[in-house]
Amino acid sequence: MAQAAGLSGPDFGGGVALASIPADGVLLGHVGDTPVLLALVDGQPHAVSASCTHYGGPLAEGLRMGDEIRCPWHHACFSLRSGKAVKAPAFAPLSCWNVEVREGRAYVTGEQAATATAVVADSGAQTQRRVLIVGGGAAGFACAQRLRERGFAGSITMLSADSAPPVDRPNLSKDYLAGSAPAEWMPLQPPAFYVEQAIDLHLGSEAVGLDIRARRVTTRNGDIHHYDALLLATGAEASRIPLPRFDLPNVFTLRTLADADALIRGVADAHAIAVIGSGFIGMEAASALRARGLAVHVVTPEALPLERILGTQLAQHLLDLHQRHDVQFHLQTQAEHFDGHDLRLANGDTLTVDALLVGIGVRPRIQLADDAGLRIQNGIVVDDRLRTAVAGVYAAGDVARYPHAGGMARVEHWVHAQRQGQCVADNLLGDDRAFTDPPFFWTHHYGNDLRYLGHGSGWNRLEVDGDPAANDCLARYYRDDVLVAAATLGRDRELLALQARL
Ligand SMILES: Cc1cc2nc3c(=O)[nH]c(=O)nc-3n(C[C@H](O)[C@H](O)[C@H](O)COP(=O)(O)OP(=O)(O)OC[C@H]3O[C@@H](n4cnc5c(N)ncnc54)[C@H](O)[C@@H]3O)c2cc1C
Ligand code: FES
Repeated sequence: MAQAAGLSGPDFGGGVALASIPADGVLLGHVGDTPVLLALVDGQPHAVSASCTHYGGPLAEGLRMGDEIRCPWHHACFSLRSGKAVKAPAFAPLSCWNVEVREGRAYVTGEQAATATAVVADSGAQTQRRVLIVGGGAAGFACAQRLRERGFAGSITMLSADSAPPVDRPNLSKDYLAGSAPAEWMPLQPPAFYVEQAIDLHLGSEAVGLDIRARRVTTRNGDIHHYDALLLATGAEASRIPLPRFDLPNVFTLRTLADADALIRGVADAHAIAVIGSGFIGMEAASALRARGLAVHVVTPEALPLERILGTQLAQHLLDLHQRHDVQFHLQTQAEHFDGHDLRLANGDTLTVDALLVGIGVRPRIQLADDAGLRIQNGIVVDDRLRTAVAGVYAAGDVARYPHAGGMARVEHWVHAQRQGQCVADNLLGDDRAFTDPPFFWTHHYGNDLRYLGHGSGWNRLEVDGDPAANDCLARYYRDDVLVAAATLGRDRELLALQARL
């Protein structure tokens, strides 16, 4: 039978031999026009849809681990039994399909109706009925979503200093900035979600006071919120250049949807922009701004962009890639003076530009916690359960400094922050779960994705296998002969397979 375009494997409606389903993998096929995965779990066939509910990643190219499948693109994890999204960045479940076994063959007969969320006993939450989340970003959203998904029946209040509900922040420097992602893609959920889930979301509501004895948070506009459990998920803020005139209206940073919209408006009639800094956000923004047709200059003190993190070979590859797209680099120098039009560099060059984008890193937003007397050490210090030393107060995401690999780490990644938020929710429900996931992030440049797993700070040996220019490469980072991180171009499954080691 002819297959619809883009479909692979057998038509499961016509049945497949049970023996053809790999015991420790998945079989890709389809039912009608829908790609479906068949897997044997404890000897029984289960069928789930084959496209990741995050960004449609091809799950058949991911990695099966036990009764779960991990997406090759951003490592979301789904149950093969129930389709449930077990780990971020996906939140919606895969659809499940009925399977009948007759004479050694499995027939996928039809899609099951979505089941309502099961309300589970939330033992820990019986005494913690009011959860207050300060932060409307990755960690805060994931915590609230997981609490409701697991049937938490107490109140959830979320305070966000942002003017927009939680958004797909990584996209701000990618397709959204390039102009290829419409505004309706950006919210993690529509406004109705917060109403339906009884998540009391307060936007433009900056928490300015935390009284840990009275279990009370005060906002700048004078509201007072009492809590039984508190999650501090205040993230980080973009650093600025502490020089005069680097605060002119055509100098931008990029953290929030409002920042991205201001930048997009600000470059609408622009011809040239200088990106200050060659970190991930600066480099992604350079790629997106080239897609808008701007002449882009990157000014950086580094010899090669991201060399300290990625090593020379991958950093050189990124430089070449951007140069092939006509980005002009000003390496080993820095911005010294800006008059709104002319940008003078320390090496004596002057660039004439219409705008600046400052991407020189971020600082954790610790003020609230610091003023309240919580322990701060380049972030809010938490234990492996993401608890601060104060009972009932947790921290997660970019702001949290947590135990990792025998030391302490603070990680600034999307999936990591979401998973920490999920871990806090699980612990609020009494799971007593340590957070052990290795950090993961991805970065996107001109259609190429680089993925990175682990925490490579202080690496001192690097092995690169393959050719970055051919988008086929695995870099392994070692610290004193211990593998601490890996990065890949085009080798998604190999990176997933390294999770257990990292
Ligand atoms: C442009 C951009 C692109 C990125 N791309 C990637 C990527 O490709 N891959 C990747 O892994 N990571 C990426 N990141 C990083 C990732 O977005 C962050 O690591 C992640 O958002 C951190 O989540 P968080 O919940 O800790 O903080 P955030 O998502 O920043 O959320 C913090 C929230 O706290 C609120 N807040 C702060 N202080 C207060 C207060 N006092 N009162 C009330 N609310 C407060 C803020 O308004 C915000 O809502 C990117 C970041 C940016 C900015
Ligand atoms: S597309 Fe699957 S995790 Fe993003």
